[in-house]
Amino acid sequence: MSQRFKDKVAVVTGGNSGIGLAAAKAFVREGAKVAITGRSDTTLKAAQKELGPDVLVIKADMSRVPEIAAAMARIKDRFGRIDALFVNAGIGRFVPFEEVTEEFYDETMATNLRGAFFTIQKAVPLLSRGAAVVLNASINAHMGMPGSSVYGASKAAVVNLAKTVSADLLQRGVRVNVVSPGPVTTPILDRMGLPEEQTRQIKERITEQVPLKRFGHPDEIAAAVLYLSSSESAFVVGTELVVDGGMIQL
Ligand SMILES: NC(=O)c1ccc[n+]([C@@H]2O[C@H](COP(=O)([O-])OP(=O)(O)OC[C@H]3O[C@@H](n4cnc5c(N)ncnc54)[C@H](OP(=O)(O)O)[C@@H]3O)[C@@H](O)[C@H]2O)c1
Repeated sequence: MSQRFKDKVAVVTGGNSGIGLAAAKAFVREGAKVAITGRSDTTLKAAQKELGPDVLVIKADMSRVPEIAAAMARIKDRFGRIDALFVNAGIGRFVPFEEVTEEFYDETMATNLRGAFFTIQKAVPLLSRGAAVVLNASINAHMGMPGSSVYGASKAAVVNLAKTVSADLLQRGVRVNVVSPGPVTTPILDRMGLPEEQTRQIKERITEQVPLKRFGHPDEIAAAVLYLSSSESAFVVGTELVVDGGMIQL
């Protein structure tokens, strides 16, 4: 077992579910001291049990800037710095364009874009020289999928942040990159609140569109995140790593 993150501090937002939980587990396996954030008491508790007592589990709504700042203060108290930051917390609901409400628009943007933006900004004082930030976007940043206008726009902006914030943080020795997953088996689709049969049909339709004819596993995205967070990617700056079974490539 490689220990690429021995004595490093890794922070994962939305580390209590899906891709974030897989990344948090991988950081723990590779020797990091880890902090995660999330909102649900149930999954935060389950994550603490699964990740172990040494992991700092923080309840925080990352769409609210004061809660982001409070989470960073707790990380500072416990660990003093951040070497790897995975900005992963996000929501993915699809709504037909004409049915998008101001509330829906604001909630998606507040979580996926404003939350990501201020998570990095509030983490800056803690980021060590040589630290790496990885954002979680989506291939929806590049596709015209029906019902994805707000989600896709939020994620396109997140892809842009990898470049623009890299330019801002380079002098501090901090690299920013972004991972864009294709469809991955996590609770995200079930959270849309659609009838079970409709969710099954959507999953089937999406699977057909993936050249590899399957959903990705959260561990497959975590592997990309750990690469972009490690010194193995020291020459990779402001880039997007698409992990999608070929969905937008072939
Ligand atoms: N699964 C996919 O197919 C896929 C594809 C491309 C991109 N992504 C991206 O991957 C990221 C993770 O999604 P996932 O698929 O792993 O789904 P997930 O299992 O639903 O995880 C989402 C995570 O984000 C957290 N979160 C959401 N809103 C939050 C908020 N306001 N404050 C704090 N935490 C918040 C959730 O915590 P709570 O449950 O406690 O709210 C949860 O831990 C998202 O950014 C998503 O857009 C996913």
